[in-house]
Amino acid sequence: MPSLQDVTRGRVLFGGDYNPEQWPEEVWHDDVRLMKQARVTTVTLGVFSWAKLEPRRGAREFGWLDRVMDLMHEHGIGVVLATPTSSPPPWLGRLHPETLPRDEDGHVEHWGSRQHFAHSSAVYRRCAAAITEDLAARYAHHPALTMWHINNEYCTYDYGDEATNAFRRWLRERYGDLSTLNSAWGADFWGQVYDTWEGVLPPRRTHYTKNPAQVLDFKRFTSDALMECYLAEHDIVRAHTPHLPVTTNFMPLWQGQDGWKWAAQEDVVSVDLYPDPKDAGAGQYAALVQDLTRSQAGGDPWMLMEQAAEPVNWRGVNHPKPAGLNRLWTWQAVARGADAVCYFQWRQSRQGAEKFHSGMLSHAGEDGRTFREVRQLGAELAAVGPEVAGAPVPAEIAVLHDWESWWAGQQEGRPSSLLDHAELLRAWHRALWEANLPADFAHPAHDLSAYRMVVVPHLYALTDTAIENLTACVRAGGTVVCGFFTGVADGDDRVRPGGIDARLRALFGIRTLHEWWPLDADERVDCDGFTGTLWSEELAADDEAVTVAAYRGGELDGLPAVLRRGRAWYVSTLPEPDALRDLLRRAATEAGVRPPPADLPRGVEAVRRGGLLFLLHHGRDEVTVPLPGRHHDLLTGETVDGAIALGRYAVAVLREDAHPAGSLRVRGHQPPPLE
Ligand code: GAL
Repeated sequence: MPSLQDVTRGRVLFGGDYNPEQWPEEVWHDDVRLMKQARVTTVTLGVFSWAKLEPRRGAREFGWLDRVMDLMHEHGIGVVLATPTSSPPPWLGRLHPETLPRDEDGHVEHWGSRQHFAHSSAVYRRCAAAITEDLAARYAHHPALTMWHINNEYCTYDYGDEATNAFRRWLRERYGDLSTLNSAWGADFWGQVYDTWEGVLPPRRTHYTKNPAQVLDFKRFTSDALMECYLAEHDIVRAHTPHLPVTTNFMPLWQGQDGWKWAAQEDVVSVDLYPDPKDAGAGQYAALVQDLTRSQAGGDPWMLMEQAAEPVNWRGVNHPKPAGLNRLWTWQAVARGADAVCYFQWRQSRQGAEKFHSGMLSHAGEDGRTFREVRQLGAELAAVGPEVAGAPVPAEIAVLHDWESWWAGQQEGRPSSLLDHAELLRAWHRALWEANLPADFAHPAHDLSAYRMVVVPHLYALTDTAIENLTACVRAGGTVVCGFFTGVADGDDRVRPGGIDARLRALFGIRTLHEWWPLDADERVDCDGFTGTLWSEELAADDEAVTVAAYRGGELDGLPAVLRRGRAWYVSTLPEPDALRDLLRRAATEAGVRPPPADLPRGVEAVRRGGLLFLLHHGRDEVTVPLPGRHHDLLTGETVDGAIALGRYAVAVLREDAHPAGSLRVRGHQPPPLE
């Protein structure tokens, strides 16, 4: 299968979405001049160009795109060509209203924005296939073409009639007959039993709480229906260019697609990432998304398809990035496995909904700070990128995450509406990030044997296979640290007898779960040595369990807050951040996870990729990092002897002098052999 490495050829790609159709042609020449200055190696074309390519039904206007493709080739810039199918032209919705999606109230989502396509509309699919076919046929052999980008950020839910029929077909395939569906949906509750397939609906507006299993299946179905759209276009371009990789860009930590299933269908996994510069936790959040994307790519290099050079325009208040932050976050992505770092978009628009969204080339032009920083970054990536491109990011810890559990768990009618799957992932990943413990993500049923420690922040629903995978992990000598409200339901969202699955209770040494005790937003619960938030549990331990920390005071006084049975730990509250970090560090040390570089000042992130050590300083005050031995900083060309001073948003890419690439040692610890 073609891969990102076929495109990068040993470099880290740099570039962005390029929308030349918004500009007169003379500007294109200025664009390439400045792209060359910024060492841009790749652009993504055509993402929203359907109306320009097919201004009337069946018409084709490729001339402008021919000229852009030629221009890119002339200047040695590779093109990731997008199928424009995320924004159908106005004529399609006008002539075929059934191509427009409907929300749960039946309201139509019209053209005039983007993403207004009904995924199960036969006409939409036919028209999308036709334009894709013609694009692929026309540019298959164009020398600028390096990769295909299908659609853009698939995310549209549709509750309309064709989607309803498709949902029924999907359900028939899953359940075969209505009585199996009724059983899986628990339809006896509130008398929802179906007597005909025609009665089955998407979870449209209801008076009161919806059937949770129906909602879960609708999310599964929507992810699959969108994936059918993706695969239809994928297959078309694949047939024309079997040698070129195909991707579609994910949104970061986005609920709407089963990211494991989808990633398996991509040659290159790519993501769009827009942390808020004002958010103190932005660097940690970015690290999470980067680790997840790398893991979706099976550890292979991945592509940061979009980031913002400066502010976005879709938050309430849109903050620019202080000088240096764009560089820091870009190198962070490279440190965590990206071999392509790109932006939305090359040139900031003057019109349209995103005219206040930054570009690599902002309204301030080539003398503006944004472009000056972009130019510097491009030069650095050109120089240092080849030292790191293609190298793996080793990790001995896996964090388990599953979209289906997210869909099942985050619904109405739960013990606490404050429980947020993504926020819990963030809290636990942040604890690992602060301990500088590198981690991959994994699906609960993946082979976990390569990891010394498995961390389960919160997986409300677990299948039998996943549960057996976890127990097998501990039997094989691994460590499992598991967060609360996990293993509560099976794959159909049916509560497991006893409230937590019996195999998990045995694994962790829980005799009985008496009750969940969720906490209010401002409530804290005292535990030995720390306070907990969000959640607590009334648990009885069995004789095999050791209480690591008990609740103190209140109703749960003396009951276990954290307990373990050998290498299996269970954490029944959300410890405050430092306590969670210390707990994971302790479990990792016991598990034999290679210790991270020690003595790192707070806010300094250390990541190993291949034979290099990246130091990324997320703070503003100068700090000194002790670094035994002599190192060579590839960015400055300087030798680092014993310690390195890092100023605001500093980045260092270090190779230990005394050792050849691939055997970097930090504070005396050898990295594990790379897979
Ligand atoms: C992404 C999208 C881009 C642009 C960007 C703005 O969601 O793919 O086209 O809209 O957001 O941040």
